Amino acid sequence: MFVKSVVTGAVLAVVLAGAAQAADCKLSADGDRGKAAAGACKGCHELEVGKPSRPTGPNLTGVYGNKAGSVADFTKYSEAMLAANAKLTWDEPSIMSYVADPKAFLASVNGKEMKHGMFFALKDEAKRKDIVAYLKETKACQ
Ligand code: HEC
Repeated sequence: MFVKSVVTGAVLAVVLAGAAQAADCKLSADGDRGKAAAGACKGCHELEVGKPSRPTGPNLTGVYGNKAGSVADFTKYSEAMLAANAKLTWDEPSIMSYVADPKAFLASVNGKEMKHGMFFALKDEAKRKDIVAYLKETKACQ
């Protein structure tokens, strides 16, 4: 009797812990700073999970770990981004380099300069790092 209720209690605790984790999906301190810094991206990108992309840029919340140029509802990828699709999966080093200098980074991936589409760069390395943490954690929440 005692053993049974302890076991039931333990199972319940595990189930509840799992549910709580999925529901609040807490950001780390880096991720939290990244969320604030990503305000700079909002002029063009949607940053809420599940919302459609805007015509100005793909929704970034699921982009970490994606192939380049593969957000399904964004139809305005550039020639350079589509060419990079087969060679590039977004991870920390690639997002860091791309956001610092989109044109140069895609030219290095493709081996030549092609028409690209993100006319914005964020030089601040600490902010870029925090934004990557935010994108990584947001992806894990989906
Ligand atoms: C002026 C508008 C604009 C701003 C501001 C902007 N972006 Fe972008 N971004 C774009 C566009 C347009 C694309 C698609 C580029 C292409 O097709 O060449 C893009 C693509 C991307 C991609 C690749 C997405 C994919 O599906 O492969 C990442 C990653 C990205 N942006 C990150 C950022 C981050 C991080 C910020 C803020 C620090 C930012 N962008 C700010 C317009 C913008």
